Amino acid sequence: MTAQPERTIPFGRPDITDEDRAAVLEVLNGHILTHGPNCKSFETEFSEYVGGGYAVTVNSCMTALHLASWYFGLGEGDEVIVPAQSHVATVSAVEIAGATPVFVDCYLETGNMIPEQIAQKITPRTKAISVVHFNGIPAEMDAIVQIAKQHNLILIEDCALSLGATYKGTHVGLIGDVGCFSFYPAKHITTGEGGMYLSKNETTATQSAHLRAHGVDRQHNERKIPGKYEVTVAGSNYRMSEMQAALGRSQLKRVDRFIAIREANFTRLKAGLFKGTTGLVILDAQSPDTKSSYYCLSVVLPDELRDQRDNIALALNAAGVGTSIYYPKPIPQFEYYQNKYGDTAGQYPNAERISYQSIALPVGQHLNTEDMDYIADQFKRVLKEFV
Ligand SMILES: Cc1ncc(COP(=O)(O)O)c(C=O)c1O
Repeated sequence: MTAQPERTIPFGRPDITDEDRAAVLEVLNGHILTHGPNCKSFETEFSEYVGGGYAVTVNSCMTALHLASWYFGLGEGDEVIVPAQSHVATVSAVEIAGATPVFVDCYLETGNMIPEQIAQKITPRTKAISVVHFNGIPAEMDAIVQIAKQHNLILIEDCALSLGATYKGTHVGLIGDVGCFSFYPAKHITTGEGGMYLSKNETTATQSAHLRAHGVDRQHNERKIPGKYEVTVAGSNYRMSEMQAALGRSQLKRVDRFIAIREANFTRLKAGLFKGTTGLVILDAQSPDTKSSYYCLSVVLPDELRDQRDNIALALNAAGVGTSIYYPKPIPQFEYYQNKYGDTAGQYPNAERISYQSIALPVGQHLNTEDMDYIADQFKRVLKEFV
Protein backbone atom coordinates (compact mmCIF):
# COMPACT_ATOMS: atom_id res chain seq x y z
CA MET A 1 0.00 0.00 0.00
CA THR A 2 1.41 3.41 -0.93
CA ALA A 3 1.54 5.96 1.88
CA GLN A 4 -0.77 8.98 1.68
CA PRO A 5 1.16 12.20 0.97
CA GLU A 6 1.56 14.58 3.88
CA ARG A 7 -0.31 17.30 1.97
CA THR A 8 -2.57 17.50 -1.07
CA ILE A 9 -1.99 20.67 -3.03
CA PRO A 10 -4.13 21.13 -6.14
CA PHE A 11 -2.62 23.21 -8.95
CA GLY A 12 -5.70 25.43 -9.09
CA ARG A 13 -8.89 25.71 -7.07
CA PRO A 14 -11.42 28.54 -7.39
CA ASP A 15 -12.11 30.53 -4.24
CA ILE A 16 -15.92 30.59 -3.98
CA THR A 17 -17.48 32.17 -0.90
CA ASP A 18 -21.04 32.43 0.42
CA GLU A 19 -21.04 36.00 -0.88
CA ASP A 20 -20.23 34.72 -4.41
CA ARG A 21 -23.01 32.14 -4.17
CA ALA A 22 -25.49 34.76 -2.93
CA ALA A 23 -24.59 37.08 -5.84
CA VAL A 24 -25.34 34.36 -8.40
CA LEU A 25 -28.51 33.30 -6.59
CA GLU A 26 -29.77 36.88 -6.59
CA VAL A 27 -29.61 36.85 -10.40
CA LEU A 28 -31.41 33.51 -10.55
CA ASN A 29 -34.10 34.83 -8.22
CA GLY A 30 -34.71 37.71 -10.62
CA HIS A 31 -35.65 37.49 -14.27
CA ILE A 32 -32.76 39.09 -16.19
CA LEU A 33 -30.30 36.35 -17.06
CA THR A 34 -28.42 38.02 -19.90
CA HIS A 35 -27.43 41.49 -21.13
CA GLY A 36 -28.54 43.10 -17.89
CA PRO A 37 -27.16 45.33 -15.15
CA ASN A 38 -24.51 42.92 -13.83
CA CYS A 39 -22.61 42.80 -17.13
CA LYS A 40 -22.71 46.62 -17.35
CA SER A 41 -21.52 47.02 -13.76
CA PHE A 42 -18.82 44.36 -14.15
CA GLU A 43 -17.48 46.29 -17.15
CA THR A 44 -17.40 49.57 -15.20
CA GLU A 45 -15.85 47.99 -12.11
CA PHE A 46 -13.25 46.14 -14.17
CA SER A 47 -12.18 49.39 -15.92
CA GLU A 48 -11.95 51.07 -12.52
CA TYR A 49 -9.81 48.24 -11.20
CA VAL A 50 -7.34 48.30 -14.10
CA GLY A 51 -7.29 52.10 -14.03
CA GLY A 52 -8.94 53.04 -17.30
CA GLY A 53 -10.22 51.96 -20.69
CA TYR A 54 -13.57 50.62 -21.82
CA ALA A 55 -14.31 47.01 -20.86
CA VAL A 56 -16.63 44.63 -22.73
CA THR A 57 -17.75 41.36 -21.11
CA VAL A 58 -17.31 38.27 -23.30
CA ASN A 59 -17.68 34.53 -22.77
CA SER A 60 -13.95 33.63 -22.88
CA CYS A 61 -10.52 35.06 -23.54
CA MET A 62 -10.51 33.15 -26.83
CA THR A 63 -13.59 35.00 -28.05
CA ALA A 64 -12.01 38.29 -26.91
CA LEU A 65 -8.89 37.48 -28.96
CA HIS A 66 -11.01 36.52 -31.95
CA LEU A 67 -13.09 39.67 -31.56
CA ALA A 68 -9.85 41.67 -31.82
CA SER A 69 -8.83 39.97 -35.09
CA TRP A 70 -12.36 40.43 -36.39
CA TYR A 71 -12.78 44.07 -35.37
CA PHE A 72 -9.42 45.07 -36.88
CA GLY A 73 -10.26 43.19 -40.10
CA LEU A 74 -7.32 40.79 -39.98
CA GLY A 75 -7.73 38.19 -42.71
CA GLU A 76 -6.38 36.52 -45.80
CA GLY A 77 -3.04 37.86 -46.95
CA ASP A 78 -2.29 39.53 -43.59
CA GLU A 79 0.53 38.41 -41.34
CA VAL A 80 0.32 38.65 -37.57
CA ILE A 81 3.41 38.25 -35.43
CA VAL A 82 2.68 35.89 -32.53
CA PRO A 83 4.62 34.13 -29.75
CA ALA A 84 5.79 30.57 -30.41
CA GLN A 85 5.28 30.02 -26.68
CA SER A 86 1.72 30.68 -25.49
CA HIS A 87 -1.67 29.04 -25.15
CA VAL A 88 -2.85 28.00 -28.59
CA ALA A 89 -5.76 30.49 -28.28
CA THR A 90 -3.38 33.41 -28.96
CA VAL A 91 -2.71 31.96 -32.40
CA SER A 92 -6.08 30.29 -33.13
CA ALA A 93 -7.60 33.78 -33.01
CA VAL A 94 -5.35 34.78 -35.92
CA GLU A 95 -5.67 31.50 -37.78
CA ILE A 96 -9.48 31.29 -37.75
CA ALA A 97 -9.67 34.89 -38.95
CA GLY A 98 -7.81 33.67 -42.06
CA ALA A 99 -4.59 35.60 -41.39
CA THR A 100 -1.14 33.98 -41.23
CA PRO A 101 0.64 33.66 -37.88
CA VAL A 102 4.37 34.41 -37.94
CA PHE A 103 6.07 32.96 -34.87
CA VAL A 104 8.89 34.40 -32.77
CA ASP A 105 10.87 32.86 -29.92
CA CYS A 106 10.86 34.01 -26.29
CA TYR A 107 13.37 34.78 -23.56
CA LEU A 108 14.12 31.80 -21.38
CA GLU A 109 13.92 33.88 -18.18
CA THR A 110 10.37 35.22 -18.76
CA GLY A 111 8.76 33.26 -21.60
CA ASN A 112 8.02 36.60 -23.29
CA MET A 113 8.55 37.48 -26.96
CA ILE A 114 11.97 38.83 -27.94
CA PRO A 115 11.38 42.29 -29.51
CA GLU A 116 14.40 42.05 -31.86
CA GLN A 117 12.89 38.91 -33.38
CA ILE A 118 9.56 40.69 -33.87
CA ALA A 119 11.36 43.47 -35.79
CA GLN A 120 13.16 40.90 -37.95
CA LYS A 121 9.90 39.18 -38.97
CA ILE A 122 8.14 42.30 -40.27
CA THR A 123 7.21 42.26 -43.98
CA PRO A 124 4.95 44.53 -46.08
CA ARG A 125 2.11 42.10 -45.21
CA THR A 126 2.46 42.42 -41.44
CA LYS A 127 -0.71 43.97 -39.98
CA ALA A 128 -0.53 43.22 -36.26
CA ILE A 129 1.43 41.90 -33.32
CA SER A 130 -0.31 39.72 -30.75
CA VAL A 131 1.73 39.69 -27.58
CA VAL A 132 1.21 37.47 -24.53
CA HIS A 133 2.25 38.43 -20.99
CA PHE A 134 3.59 34.97 -20.23
CA ASN A 135 2.31 33.50 -16.95
CA GLY A 136 1.40 37.06 -15.94
CA ILE A 137 4.90 38.52 -16.47
CA PRO A 138 4.59 41.73 -18.51
CA ALA A 139 6.36 41.61 -21.88
CA GLU A 140 8.87 44.30 -22.95
CA MET A 141 6.16 46.71 -24.00
CA ASP A 142 8.26 49.84 -24.66
CA ALA A 143 10.21 48.06 -27.39
CA ILE A 144 7.12 46.29 -28.76
CA VAL A 145 5.01 49.47 -28.83
CA GLN A 146 7.84 51.25 -30.64
CA ILE A 147 7.96 48.54 -33.34
CA ALA A 148 4.16 48.64 -33.68
CA LYS A 149 4.17 52.45 -34.04
CA GLN A 150 7.06 52.48 -36.48
CA HIS A 151 5.30 50.02 -38.81
CA ASN A 152 1.73 51.15 -38.11
CA LEU A 153 0.68 47.79 -36.67
CA ILE A 154 -2.28 46.84 -34.48
CA LEU A 155 -1.12 45.67 -31.05
CA ILE A 156 -3.22 43.01 -29.29
CA GLU A 157 -2.35 41.99 -25.72
CA ASP A 158 -3.23 38.50 -24.50
CA CYS A 159 -3.68 39.12 -20.77
CA ALA A 160 -5.36 35.77 -20.00
CA LEU A 161 -3.03 35.16 -17.05
CA SER A 162 -2.13 38.72 -16.16
CA LEU A 163 -4.93 40.36 -14.22
CA GLY A 164 -3.15 42.66 -11.75
CA ALA A 165 0.11 42.88 -13.77
CA THR A 166 1.51 46.32 -14.58
CA TYR A 167 4.23 47.65 -16.86
CA LYS A 168 5.77 50.94 -15.76
CA GLY A 169 2.65 51.62 -13.69
CA THR A 170 0.10 50.89 -16.45
CA HIS A 171 -2.08 47.81 -16.19
CA VAL A 172 -1.41 45.38 -19.04
CA GLY A 173 -4.17 45.44 -21.64
CA LEU A 174 -4.17 49.25 -21.65
CA ILE A 175 -0.86 49.57 -23.50
CA GLY A 176 -1.76 48.19 -26.94
CA ASP A 177 -5.01 48.58 -28.90
CA VAL A 178 -6.90 45.90 -26.99
CA GLY A 179 -6.31 43.57 -24.04
CA CYS A 180 -8.01 40.19 -23.60
CA PHE A 181 -8.53 38.61 -20.15
CA SER A 182 -9.69 35.15 -19.02
CA PHE A 183 -11.86 34.19 -16.07
CA TYR A 184 -11.46 30.42 -16.46
CA PRO A 185 -11.49 28.68 -13.02
CA ALA A 186 -7.71 28.52 -12.34
CA LYS A 187 -7.32 32.25 -13.11
CA HIS A 188 -6.98 35.16 -10.66
CA ILE A 189 -10.74 35.61 -10.62
CA THR A 190 -13.30 33.31 -12.19
CA THR A 191 -16.74 33.37 -13.77
CA GLY A 192 -16.61 29.66 -14.76
CA GLU A 193 -15.98 30.43 -18.40
CA GLY A 194 -15.66 34.11 -19.26
CA GLY A 195 -13.43 36.95 -20.28
CA MET A 196 -13.05 40.69 -20.72
CA TYR A 197 -12.14 42.70 -23.82
CA LEU A 198 -10.52 45.99 -22.91
CA SER A 199 -9.62 49.00 -25.03
CA LYS A 200 -8.53 52.50 -24.18
CA ASN A 201 -10.35 53.60 -27.36
CA GLU A 202 -14.10 54.05 -26.81
CA THR A 203 -15.01 53.51 -30.47
CA THR A 204 -13.04 50.25 -30.60
CA ALA A 205 -14.84 49.01 -27.47
CA THR A 206 -18.32 50.12 -28.60
CA GLN A 207 -18.06 48.72 -32.10
CA SER A 208 -16.51 45.47 -30.86
CA ALA A 209 -19.37 45.20 -28.34
CA HIS A 210 -21.80 45.29 -31.28
CA LEU A 211 -19.92 42.47 -33.04
CA ARG A 212 -20.05 40.41 -29.86
CA ALA A 213 -23.85 40.82 -29.64
CA HIS A 214 -25.28 40.00 -33.10
CA GLY A 215 -24.29 43.36 -34.62
CA VAL A 216 -27.36 44.88 -32.98
CA ASP A 217 -27.08 48.62 -32.35
CA ARG A 218 -28.84 48.82 -28.96
CA GLN A 219 -29.23 46.75 -25.81
CA HIS A 220 -32.65 45.65 -24.48
CA ASN A 221 -32.89 48.54 -22.03
CA GLU A 222 -32.01 51.05 -24.77
CA ARG A 223 -34.89 50.01 -27.04
CA LYS A 224 -37.75 52.56 -27.02
CA ILE A 225 -40.13 50.04 -28.54
CA PRO A 226 -39.44 46.50 -27.26
CA GLY A 227 -38.12 44.19 -29.96
CA LYS A 228 -37.16 47.05 -32.29
CA TYR A 229 -33.48 47.48 -33.15
CA GLU A 230 -31.18 47.91 -36.14
CA VAL A 231 -28.41 45.54 -37.30
CA THR A 232 -25.45 47.62 -38.44
CA VAL A 233 -22.93 44.81 -38.96
CA ALA A 234 -22.93 40.99 -39.19
CA GLY A 235 -22.10 39.94 -35.64
CA SER A 236 -22.00 36.87 -33.45
CA ASN A 237 -22.91 36.01 -29.87
CA TYR A 238 -19.89 36.17 -27.55
CA ARG A 239 -21.89 37.54 -24.59
CA MET A 240 -21.37 36.76 -20.92
CA SER A 241 -24.45 35.81 -18.85
CA GLU A 242 -25.70 37.79 -15.85
CA MET A 243 -24.90 34.85 -13.52
CA GLN A 244 -21.28 34.91 -14.66
CA ALA A 245 -21.04 38.69 -14.38
CA ALA A 246 -22.48 38.61 -10.84
CA LEU A 247 -19.84 36.05 -9.84
CA GLY A 248 -17.11 38.10 -11.52
CA ARG A 249 -18.17 41.28 -9.69
CA SER A 250 -18.17 39.47 -6.37
CA GLN A 251 -14.73 37.95 -7.06
CA LEU A 252 -13.28 41.27 -8.23
CA LYS A 253 -13.86 42.67 -4.73
CA ARG A 254 -11.17 40.24 -3.47
CA VAL A 255 -8.71 40.48 -6.35
CA ASP A 256 -6.12 42.58 -4.49
CA ARG A 257 -5.99 40.02 -1.70
CA PHE A 258 -5.74 37.15 -4.21
CA ILE A 259 -2.78 38.78 -5.93
CA ALA A 260 -1.06 39.60 -2.63
CA ILE A 261 -1.33 35.92 -1.61
CA ARG A 262 0.02 34.82 -4.98
CA GLU A 263 2.97 37.19 -4.68
CA ALA A 264 3.80 36.03 -1.14
CA ASN A 265 3.53 32.37 -2.21
CA PHE A 266 5.65 32.93 -5.31
CA THR A 267 8.38 34.75 -3.40
CA ARG A 268 8.52 32.07 -0.73
CA LEU A 269 8.57 29.19 -3.21
CA LYS A 270 11.21 30.81 -5.42
CA ALA A 271 13.53 31.35 -2.43
CA GLY A 272 12.89 27.79 -1.20
CA LEU A 273 13.67 26.25 -4.60
CA PHE A 274 16.87 28.24 -5.08
CA LYS A 275 18.17 27.36 -1.59
CA GLY A 276 20.68 24.53 -2.03
CA THR A 277 20.13 24.00 -5.80
CA THR A 278 21.93 25.09 -8.96
CA GLY A 279 20.97 25.11 -12.62
CA LEU A 280 17.24 25.88 -12.20
CA VAL A 281 15.67 28.77 -14.14
CA ILE A 282 12.54 30.25 -12.56
CA LEU A 283 10.44 32.39 -14.89
CA ASP A 284 9.96 35.80 -13.30
CA ALA A 285 9.87 39.54 -14.07
CA GLN A 286 13.38 40.83 -14.76
CA SER A 287 12.93 44.52 -14.08
CA PRO A 288 11.58 46.54 -11.14
CA ASP A 289 9.19 48.41 -13.46
CA THR A 290 7.28 45.26 -14.31
CA LYS A 291 4.89 43.81 -11.78
CA SER A 292 3.85 40.23 -12.40
CA SER A 293 0.41 38.87 -11.55
CA TYR A 294 2.09 35.66 -10.26
CA TYR A 295 -0.13 33.21 -12.06
CA CYS A 296 2.12 30.21 -11.29
CA LEU A 297 5.80 29.43 -10.82
CA SER A 298 7.41 27.71 -13.81
CA VAL A 299 10.77 26.06 -13.18
CA VAL A 300 12.90 25.16 -16.19
CA LEU A 301 15.00 22.08 -15.46
CA PRO A 302 18.60 21.76 -16.67
CA ASP A 303 18.96 20.43 -20.25
CA GLU A 304 20.20 17.04 -19.05
CA LEU A 305 16.87 16.44 -17.25
CA ARG A 306 14.71 17.11 -20.34
CA ASP A 307 13.82 13.44 -20.78
CA GLN A 308 12.95 13.11 -17.09
CA ARG A 309 10.57 16.08 -16.89
CA ASP A 310 7.38 14.01 -17.02
CA ASN A 311 8.71 11.52 -14.45
CA ILE A 312 9.67 14.36 -12.12
CA ALA A 313 6.17 15.83 -12.46
CA LEU A 314 4.60 12.43 -11.73
CA ALA A 315 6.80 11.99 -8.64
CA LEU A 316 5.66 15.41 -7.42
CA ASN A 317 2.03 14.46 -8.03
CA ALA A 318 2.58 11.27 -6.01
CA ALA A 319 3.85 13.50 -3.19
CA GLY A 320 0.57 15.45 -3.34
CA VAL A 321 1.90 18.42 -5.33
CA GLY A 322 -0.33 19.42 -8.25
CA THR A 323 1.58 20.53 -11.35
CA SER A 324 0.88 21.78 -14.83
CA ILE A 325 2.86 22.66 -17.97
CA TYR A 326 2.70 26.07 -19.68
CA TYR A 327 2.53 24.97 -22.45
CA PRO A 328 3.09 21.37 -23.65
CA LYS A 329 4.54 22.33 -27.06
CA PRO A 330 5.59 25.51 -28.84
CA ILE A 331 2.46 26.36 -30.89
CA PRO A 332 4.09 25.78 -34.32
CA GLN A 333 4.89 22.23 -33.19
CA PHE A 334 1.28 21.23 -32.51
CA GLU A 335 0.06 18.85 -35.23
CA TYR A 336 -2.28 21.33 -36.91
CA TYR A 337 0.35 24.08 -37.24
CA GLN A 338 3.13 21.68 -38.16
CA ASN A 339 1.02 20.15 -40.95
CA LYS A 340 0.13 23.59 -42.26
CA TYR A 341 3.37 25.55 -41.84
CA GLY A 342 6.02 22.78 -41.81
CA ASP A 343 8.44 21.28 -39.33
CA THR A 344 9.97 23.96 -37.09
CA ALA A 345 11.96 21.73 -34.71
CA GLY A 346 14.95 23.67 -33.39
CA GLN A 347 13.72 27.06 -34.65
CA TYR A 348 12.40 28.29 -31.28
CA PRO A 349 14.96 26.93 -28.82
CA ASN A 350 13.78 28.81 -25.73
CA ALA A 351 10.13 27.99 -26.39
CA GLU A 352 11.20 24.35 -26.71
CA ARG A 353 13.09 24.44 -23.42
CA ILE A 354 10.09 25.93 -21.62
CA SER A 355 7.67 23.44 -23.21
CA TYR A 356 9.77 20.33 -22.78
CA GLN A 357 11.78 21.09 -19.64
CA SER A 358 9.54 23.16 -17.39
CA ILE A 359 7.13 22.27 -14.63
CA ALA A 360 4.54 24.79 -13.44
CA LEU A 361 3.99 24.82 -9.68
CA PRO A 362 0.94 26.27 -7.92
CA VAL A 363 0.96 29.59 -6.02
CA GLY A 364 -2.79 30.36 -6.09
CA GLN A 365 -4.91 31.98 -3.41
CA HIS A 366 -6.03 28.55 -2.16
CA LEU A 367 -2.49 27.97 -0.78
CA ASN A 368 -0.29 29.39 1.97
CA THR A 369 3.42 29.74 2.69
CA GLU A 370 3.53 26.38 4.50
CA ASP A 371 2.28 24.76 1.30
CA MET A 372 5.11 26.57 -0.51
CA ASP A 373 7.71 25.17 1.90
CA TYR A 374 6.29 21.70 1.37
CA ILE A 375 6.42 22.10 -2.44
CA ALA A 376 10.03 23.35 -2.31
CA ASP A 377 11.10 20.45 -0.06
CA GLN A 378 9.37 17.85 -2.21
CA PHE A 379 10.73 19.37 -5.42
CA LYS A 380 14.29 19.22 -4.15
CA ARG A 381 13.83 15.70 -2.76
CA VAL A 382 12.46 14.45 -6.09
CA LEU A 383 15.14 16.28 -8.09
CA LYS A 384 17.89 14.49 -6.14
CA GLU A 385 16.43 11.15 -7.26
CA PHE A 386 16.87 12.09 -10.92
CA VAL A 387 20.31 13.76 -11.04
C1 LIG B 1 -2.21 32.90 -22.64
C2 LIG B 1 -3.62 32.40 -22.80
N1 LIG B 1 -4.40 32.96 -23.73
C3 LIG B 1 -5.68 32.58 -23.89
C4 LIG B 1 -6.25 31.58 -23.12
C5 LIG B 1 -7.66 31.16 -23.37
O1 LIG B 1 -8.49 31.55 -22.32
P1 LIG B 1 -10.03 31.06 -22.28
O2 LIG B 1 -10.02 29.67 -21.75
O3 LIG B 1 -10.72 32.03 -21.36
O4 LIG B 1 -10.55 31.14 -23.67
C6 LIG B 1 -5.47 30.96 -22.14
C7 LIG B 1 -6.04 29.91 -21.29
O5 LIG B 1 -5.47 29.49 -20.32
C8 LIG B 1 -4.13 31.38 -21.97
O6 LIG B 1 -3.32 30.78 -21.07
